[in-house]
Amino acid sequence: RHQPGPEDRFSFGLWTVGWQGRDPFGEATRRALDPVETVHRLADLGAYGVTFHDDDLIPPGAADNEREAAVTRFRQALDATGLVVPMATTNLFTHPVFKDGAFTANDRDVRRYALRKTLRNIDLAAELGAHTYVAWGGREGAESGAAKDVRAALDRMKEAFDLLGQYVVEQGYDLRFAIEPKPNEPRGDILLPTVGHALAFIERLERPELYGVNPEVGHEQMAGLNFPHGIAQALWADKLFHIDLNGQSGIKYDQDLRFGAGDLRSAFWLVDLLETAGYDGPRHFDFKPPRTEDLDGVWASAAGCMRNYLILRERAAAFRTDPAVQDALHAARLDQLGRPTAEDGLAGLLADPTAYESFDAEAAAGRGMAFEHLDQLALEHLLGAV
Ligand code: GCO
Ligand code: MN
Ligand code: MN
Ligand code: MN
Repeated sequence: RHQPGPEDRFSFGLWTVGWQGRDPFGEATRRALDPVETVHRLADLGAYGVTFHDDDLIPPGAADNEREAAVTRFRQALDATGLVVPMATTNLFTHPVFKDGAFTANDRDVRRYALRKTLRNIDLAAELGAHTYVAWGGREGAESGAAKDVRAALDRMKEAFDLLGQYVVEQGYDLRFAIEPKPNEPRGDILLPTVGHALAFIERLERPELYGVNPEVGHEQMAGLNFPHGIAQALWADKLFHIDLNGQSGIKYDQDLRFGAGDLRSAFWLVDLLETAGYDGPRHFDFKPPRTEDLDGVWASAAGCMRNYLILRERAAAFRTDPAVQDALHAARLDQLGRPTAEDGLAGLLADPTAYESFDAEAAAGRGMAFEHLDQLALEHLLGAV
């Protein structure tokens, strides 16, 4: 029970379990992991996919033959385990050249380099069978006002994404982009800080159908936002191309806790939403096992991410099928919310005296919504008390 398998579509970034524990105040606490070792460990734990930044797989500055060798070893590990690569992404944040950003750096030559670095890794992503290319612009932003002309930077951001889209179309790749919002860290303020900003940006691109979002639990929560609500809007817009699952406790630095840690109630509603909405993309974990852990702790943390998802999936399904919950949903008038407000059209609405002239606002205001009972049932299912 709660044993993950490939059908659950769990994936992990090489950089997640591979995080060595460096933080702004301390050195690494763990050795580097070989990507081949990671692929085998993830497969043993029941994951189906592995994802990477270009630099996670190929040491930056590697010669062509070293690059070739790294890819070949990785591919052999994939073949041996059956793990797939559903997504890949670019590291446009570690090297000091990206200190003022990549696609929106003030320096034009840095922007051109960032695009070439991305295009090169898109080739590898396509070669390894990825269908999603994530773009997290962690360095696209500013710490001070006049340093960044945000409207010009957004022009450059659009230019970059339009060029990337043109490239995948011209190459005939079956690859779509997923933009990952984050409000801050490492920059003081990052461009496209939330799911909503990213969704609005996408509509300004030349080929909007090629772009969606890759929301991360902790990133919206760092901005104090309701993550399941953001995901619901992305689903509503048909833009949930990918998702980064992890845990966060409120408005503070990016914690990247294992999924289920942090705001557990939000995690429950998230799993309920993903499962009932029929999201069929990867359940991708982007977490950092705390630097207190040795490698045993790292794998325990990775296993915990998947196990917590499966437990929450079971609890959410039990909530939805409980007859008491169905009654409570009816009492809370969710069925009414699902019904159009004016099937009779504008003319019907205007001609209906019960909509206004004889509407009893006092009586309607007096009706309780019965939400507390419904929420208590949810909490009891989450706590395993039902
Ligand atoms: C973060 C980000 C990163 C990105 C990843 C993909 O925690 O701030 O989520 O982990 O997802 O680098 O580019
Ligand atoms: Mn994060
Ligand atoms: Mn992070
Ligand atoms: Mn992420």
